[in-house]
Amino acid sequence: MKLGLFTDPHYSHQELTCSTRRPVLSYGKVREAMEAMAGCDLVLCLGDLINDCGNSAENRKRLAEMAALLHSFSMPVYCLPGNHDYEAFTLTEFQQITDCLAPPSVLRLCGKTLLFPNASYREDGTPYDGNPVDWTDSCIPSSELGLLRRTLAEPETEEAYVFLHQNLDPDVEGHHIIRNAPEVRALLSSSGKVKAVLQVHYNPGHEN
Ligand SMILES: [Fe+2]
Repeated sequence: MKLGLFTDPHYSHQELTCSTRRPVLSYGKVREAMEAMAGCDLVLCLGDLINDCGNSAENRKRLAEMAALLHSFSMPVYCLPGNHDYEAFTLTEFQQITDCLAPPSVLRLCGKTLLFPNASYREDGTPYDGNPVDWTDSCIPSSELGLLRRTLAEPETEEAYVFLHQNLDPDVEGHHIIRNAPEVRALLSSSGKVKAVLQVHYNPGHEN
């Protein structure tokens, strides 16, 4: 199995945000990444494909541009929406425009199980989808935990890889960490089947 992965391009027409981000350059960067990933069995985008510019028509235009770019390569693409995507779109809108593979959140490929738990919920269980987003409040709800637990328990799941937008790693800056991260880490660890966890969202980057 050969996976390609990119994340957090935060694409928009904006030239500069947050002092150092250059969203308008992201289209070209994603194109370069897709060219470098040619021949992969699957490409994953782990979120924040779009940066909400405050203009819904402009947001739609930019997401459609990005979707056309992703589909111009002959590889299936899975897009896990991130907090910035939910600031601009509902999940239904995002899926309709991108027409990529998306939640629900289990894929089996070449004997491996790929899990994409959705942490874009507040701690009180309210989904980001269709609601104002507070990126500092993220949580994996009981429904997603149940799916994780059941999938990991299945005999068909021999080797699992977990992909998240927000963070389980306790060593990154605290606002980026999922509120129920200790519970989720314990669940993944106790299965004995999870070989790697990839998480994004924390833009300075971290490896553990
Ligand atoms: Fe994010």
